[in-house]
Amino acid sequence: MKKKVIVAIDGPSSSGKSTIAKLVAKHFNFTYVDSGSIYRAITYIAIKNNLIKTGDIDVVSLIDLLNNCSISFSFNSDNQNIIKLDGVSVENEIRTFEISNNVSLIAEKNEIRKYVLKIQKDISNNKSVVMDGRDIGSVVFPNADFKFFLDASIDVRASRRWNELKSIEKDLKFKEVKKDLLKRDKKDVNRKYSPLIRSKDSILINSNELEISEVVDIIIDIIETEIKIK
Ligand code: DC
Repeated sequence: MKKKVIVAIDGPSSSGKSTIAKLVAKHFNFTYVDSGSIYRAITYIAIKNNLIKTGDIDVVSLIDLLNNCSISFSFNSDNQNIIKLDGVSVENEIRTFEISNNVSLIAEKNEIRKYVLKIQKDISNNKSVVMDGRDIGSVVFPNADFKFFLDASIDVRASRRWNELKSIEKDLKFKEVKKDLLKRDKKDVNRKYSPLIRSKDSILINSNELEISEVVDIIIDIIETEIKIK
């Protein structure tokens, strides 16, 4: 096998990317990188420091804070990333509805995307990785060895997200989750910098009718077949 392999998995929110990417990474013993967690950690910092007001962000102050803190990853025994802020895990803190609701504001800023791009490149240096996100195949790794674009209908995605969130946020309604997803889809697709687009050379997989394990098997088969041919 080639020394370093990059697998890019893009798609809209709750299309199953992270669950699938983790399992694919585990199969090949590659490092899994959840790039959305970086945008979420930055949103957490922005909220904690009161830098999001009336729907806008104080980007200058936020970049200043980012230059004075460290966002890093550690990897567990399954090679999955645990995101840390100044050395402390914020994995749980970044998964709340409040963070989900504000993260698009952060992700649309070019200064922030440049900051995140550096982290994404650094983390993938000399390692085979499976990275999921919105712009991995289009902007972060345009020359990725494998590019997949995962999709599913809004109702399927909203019910997946609701099922994930309702154990920690008991009062959350399905329609609120669906509304938030629609809002995020719109922002992800229409933003000026690195919008969510399906690169022409990516393989589209719609998971409406597929179990997670079936999507994982499809991706593993494609990678294994290609690696054998090379
Ligand atoms: O995958 P997620 O829902 O955890 O991502 C959180 C947000 O970060 C999402 O609203 C879009 C943004 N994001 C992005 O713009 N680019 C990426 N590569 C990954 C995530």
